[in-house]
Amino acid sequence: MFSRRPDSPKPPTRRRVLLAIGGIAVTAGIGWGSNWLVAYNRYERSNVGKLGFHNRLRIPELLDPAVSGDGTRRYELELAPGTSEFLSGKKTATWGINGPYLAPTLRVRDGDRVALTIGNGLPDATTLHWHGMHLPSAMDGGPHQMIAKGQVWRPRWTVHQPAATLWYHPHPHGSTGSHVYRGIAGMIIVDDPVSIRSGLPSTYGVDDIPLVLQDKNFHDDGSLDFSESTLSDTVAGVDSLGLLGDTILVNGTHDPHFEVTTERVRLRLLNGSNARVYELGFPGDKTFHLVATENGLLKRPRALTRLRLAPGERAEVVVMFTAGEKAVLRSLPPDLKVGFPTHRFAGGDDTFDLLELRAAPSLKPSPPLPTRIDGAPADITLPAEPRTRRLKFVGTQINGKSMDMNRVDEIVPAGATEIWEVERGDGNVHAFHLHGATFNVLKVDGEEPPAFMRGPKDTVYLPGTGTVRLAVRFDTLTDERIPYMYHCHVLRHEDDGMMGQFLVVEPGREDKVSTTIDSPDAHGGSHH
Ligand code: C2O
Ligand code: CU
Ligand code: CU
Repeated sequence: MFSRRPDSPKPPTRRRVLLAIGGIAVTAGIGWGSNWLVAYNRYERSNVGKLGFHNRLRIPELLDPAVSGDGTRRYELELAPGTSEFLSGKKTATWGINGPYLAPTLRVRDGDRVALTIGNGLPDATTLHWHGMHLPSAMDGGPHQMIAKGQVWRPRWTVHQPAATLWYHPHPHGSTGSHVYRGIAGMIIVDDPVSIRSGLPSTYGVDDIPLVLQDKNFHDDGSLDFSESTLSDTVAGVDSLGLLGDTILVNGTHDPHFEVTTERVRLRLLNGSNARVYELGFPGDKTFHLVATENGLLKRPRALTRLRLAPGERAEVVVMFTAGEKAVLRSLPPDLKVGFPTHRFAGGDDTFDLLELRAAPSLKPSPPLPTRIDGAPADITLPAEPRTRRLKFVGTQINGKSMDMNRVDEIVPAGATEIWEVERGDGNVHAFHLHGATFNVLKVDGEEPPAFMRGPKDTVYLPGTGTVRLAVRFDTLTDERIPYMYHCHVLRHEDDGMMGQFLVVEPGREDKVSTTIDSPDAHGGSHH
């Protein structure tokens, strides 16, 4: 149905290419055809043909909560350093939750009361943020809810949102990138009556499979390489993207395969990478069906052959198999719309095989793909005169400002539906994420968004120098002191201050609250 993206880039004309190369050679002070071209050529990466899909895909443990008398589901999470073996025979120092790498999957239902006990056994202070969850800002796990080394944090809230695939990861201001890269990240599955009735595959680890996609660089001894991309050295005036790896892990498994035993499987895809954008598909353009975006289910499945996933974005897709079929989930060169030559240095020419899906010689029947899912409520209705806010992403700043823990940037009335126009004002890769809210993409550079961008979202790639127009529905929980965040989900940019803070307050209180945050939290203290 939607097999072609309407917006594939035109190849640059020869003249534009020459001008660009000339401009870079001059501004970077590098002679024609020397280091620059060497770097340029090195940055087209591929692992196609180099994998054997030898390792069985690891499925993160589904964490069983203890249920207390009042029905509260209690989860215990312990963050600690560990040792992993990703590459055979090599040890890698990593961080994880209840294990050496990544974190257990939490599965909750709309209406559940949850209480978590989070012990920080890491050598650093950190936080744990529930990305995509609608919850009180004091429980959000952003930079104001630091958990000092050796301390315990006990957030609790009531889940009140439709079925979705969310995730959790650290959010300490300035070091989110390294904490996520070392391995702290997990998935959250929210179920609701719509998802339970939907007929979509839902047996965890069997036909409902979490896939955490991450790129790494390894030193020869197996240790993680933290060096960042040379983009900024090479392309003058463009900020580094941070880490861009040449080795892909799926759920912390290198070179993975998964044994498919049912006719249909639902893949819950999470881009948990620091900066890499994936363009997912199958060789031969095998069709799959998108059933959910970050913040919930679609109205009906949508047939696709390609799906772009920026850092922080999630998607649920259903893939159909015939007995004995093998299909490789691949990331093709993503259409980053960042122009020449940034495209190359930002991973725009990279191709990676991610996972081989191997169907058994005979498959258990799956229910048919539903024609309607009616994810509730998939579409956001705008008021007659919505308030519009504008954010401009340039370099590592938003609207010319860097993150200030003590400054409130926006004040939003609880329950509001607003237009947010987010403009990418430079030629680099950025992904916009907003806490505590759900949005729909209305327009991308004035055009209808491509099929894979339509649905309830909380994170969106900013394509092209132009504007992404969003209809944002905010939650009804208020707090006049503790803000939520919005930021670029390229973690190097976030850590460098490409982040702002907003309060959600009772309607009518917008002008009465302080725009300065002066809580102990703002200075990184832990008071829990
Ligand atoms: Cu996934 Cu504010 O983060
Ligand atoms: Cu978030
Ligand atoms: Cu960015």
